[in-house]
Amino acid sequence: MTCRDLLSSVSSSTINQYLEQSLNMSLSTSVNGETTYTNSFKCKTTDEGFYFLPRMPSGYVVDDTLYQKIFAIANAALYPMYTLLKQNSAYFVPVKTDDIHTMRALFFPWKKGISERLVISNLDNFINGSHGTTIPVMKNLSFDYNKVTSMAICGNSGSGKSYALTYFLSFLKSFSDLIIVDPKFDSPSRWARENKISVIHPQKNRSKSDFVSEVNESLSQSLSMIQDRQEVLYDNPNKEFKHLTIVIDEVLALSEGVNKQIKDSFFSLLSQIALLGRATRVHLLLVSQRFDHTSIPVSVREQLNVLIQIGNINKKTTQFLFPDLDPEGIVIPVGKGTGLIQIIDNEHPYQVIPLLCPTYYTKKGIL
Ligand SMILES: Nc1ncnc2c1ncn2[C@@H]1O[C@H](COP(=O)(O)OP(=O)(O)O)[C@@H](O)[C@H]1O
Ligand SMILES: [Mg+2]
Repeated sequence: MTCRDLLSSVSSSTINQYLEQSLNMSLSTSVNGETTYTNSFKCKTTDEGFYFLPRMPSGYVVDDTLYQKIFAIANAALYPMYTLLKQNSAYFVPVKTDDIHTMRALFFPWKKGISERLVISNLDNFINGSHGTTIPVMKNLSFDYNKVTSMAICGNSGSGKSYALTYFLSFLKSFSDLIIVDPKFDSPSRWARENKISVIHPQKNRSKSDFVSEVNESLSQSLSMIQDRQEVLYDNPNKEFKHLTIVIDEVLALSEGVNKQIKDSFFSLLSQIALLGRATRVHLLLVSQRFDHTSIPVSVREQLNVLIQIGNINKKTTQFLFPDLDPEGIVIPVGKGTGLIQIIDNEHPYQVIPLLCPTYYTKKGIL
């Protein structure tokens, strides 16, 4: 039985009752024994989420702490029927009523079901059957490349960054030009060789600064292209350019240990591209073990709109991509390439959701 089947067989009044029971039992230990039975709160479920309606004055404080407590209890209780969307602080909403005791509620937005991994038995066929610039990420999640500019994939070594990167590359190559930088001369390079796309990678007998200078040269050409495109846009604001994606695996390996001047130009070029790329369809796809200010400029981080964190998830590892998030209470799926994703466009709810990167099979030897 799939999640969807499960869902359709449980009525919303049953869920409501079950939710109230769950909260009654768990909260009563921490909330001075107050329960719905003593008329202290109620729940109301809708398609978008559920409301926690406290009856005021209450014997407990309605604050962030209570909100996060309810989040943790309800998220576990509702799994796998619903996934609650984590909020950074209490989400208060007004309630239409003349009763002063019940004019407010806490809202807990949710999405139906849980995140489910895409398992793709033949990646080439899968991509051939896909449409335009839509990139599927999970069974019930995809995004449109026309609506995002810069992407980041973060995670500890071995967490599946390059594997996820190669998945995105396979999609991008059908509608985007690619500039690929691979400091580790690893799976992205093998993928590029297979697809006859050139890669900037370190070479024997050359210094690291040489290598980063070569990267800077390429970034600088992209920046000139942005400027050319801006001029075209000035006369013809509706002009649609072909996407160009600048892909850098292991950014940290580039920005660490080169002389200051070269690093400064690297940072400056990245910032300008991130800031100006949107209108001209020039994208960054950055991969790194960390995204602190020593790996990429803060201004680049602020422009990111697809944020992926895989591998170890805790407050420390998420502090750079998701500075406001306390990941506690979010159910992180187990397995390879799992973690969190946030897509910031105008279509997806502005939230961080559990992620399972696709598992795919291709011609042998690419990865
Ligand atoms: N989503 C996934 N599904 C299946 N296997 C994966 C997935 N992500 C990673 N792996 C496995 O883990 C290995 C290490 O991943 P890799 O991308 O090289 O890690 P990183 O680049 O973060 O160091 C891959 O070679 C692959 O076998
Ligand atoms: Mg890697």
